[in-house]
Amino acid sequence: MRDVKPILWKGGRLELLDQRKLPFNETYIELRGARDTARAIRSMVVRGAPAIGVTAAFGLALEAARFRDGHLHDDFERAASVLLAARPTAVNLRWALERLRATAAALGENVTPESLARALRRQALALYREDIAANRALGAAGARLLSRGDVLTHCNAGALATAGYGTAIGVIRSAWSSGRRFGVYATETRPFLQGARLTAWELVKLRIPVTLITDGMVGAVLASGKVGAVVVGTDRTAANGDVANKIGTYTIAVLARRHGVPFYVAAPTSSIDLDCAGGDDIPIEQRDADEVTHIRGRRIASEGVRVFNPAFDVTPAELVTAIITEQGVVRGGDRKGLARAVRAAQLERGRSTSPGRA
Ligand code: MRU
Repeated sequence: MRDVKPILWKGGRLELLDQRKLPFNETYIELRGARDTARAIRSMVVRGAPAIGVTAAFGLALEAARFRDGHLHDDFERAASVLLAARPTAVNLRWALERLRATAAALGENVTPESLARALRRQALALYREDIAANRALGAAGARLLSRGDVLTHCNAGALATAGYGTAIGVIRSAWSSGRRFGVYATETRPFLQGARLTAWELVKLRIPVTLITDGMVGAVLASGKVGAVVVGTDRTAANGDVANKIGTYTIAVLARRHGVPFYVAAPTSSIDLDCAGGDDIPIEQRDADEVTHIRGRRIASEGVRVFNPAFDVTPAELVTAIITEQGVVRGGDRKGLARAVRAAQLERGRSTSPGRA
């Protein structure tokens, strides 16, 4: 199977697979700088925490070609703040921009615009490659947890939501390629339909049997006893293990606990925010009412109705069985384990980006 590539970086050009058009059209859009990259992130051309982090890094690297000599710091910060404002919940956006800021700082004051732009392009590409490697490692670490029954997932934490391979779907595909056989229940994921449009599409392509359900069917499916594990992704996991993910995740975690089904979160360390003490500190994006009142541009609710449309919710750590990172599996709510995983990833990066290997 040809790998799904949500982000293409070729010869210094950035193209994004327009995820709003899937599963019917596979078209790419070219981006040229920070502003149109921020617009693409906000309008969901690209979505999913790791994918928006990596895309923002490429957007900033492209913008660097316009930075003015003598104003490099200001131009960098202006572009970074445009990108950071695109979506608030996924910490990967901040994480990726901080990595680029550290790259710029390491070059010192006397850097030329050309060498800064070159270094930022190199760093963005490193983030892209690291993300795929982390997802593969995370997939392998989590695969052995899927030891019985079918699997239920929510939203899309697949290749489309990352630089490639996927996080929750990475765990699923890794278990599948190691020979385990099971079916996957994919929730539709109202209102943006990431499950129906994207997860179902990816799993069909991977030839992993997938059954699409509406979000309201999760209780009945878990009560049927067929599901052995729930695996979801995360936009930001706080230091205490509280998990922000797509709206509806919390409901699924409560139901999983009610039915004794383990609830796993696939979290590359790039989505763990140790500066955020707990779920209450995670900013939750509120999106346009039209996403709820309309489907594909067609109104389905009365004019005048009020709408509540948070894009994410927070699942408290006590409902999380384990968090699967590229550094291994951490028990839900194990603060020290989470901090250790983040530190181990930082150390590994330090080793692989030591002079001569950048
Ligand atoms: O609004 P989206 O589509 O960006 O939300 C995506 C999710 O909630 C994913 O589960 C999360 O970003 C993890 S993706 C590996």
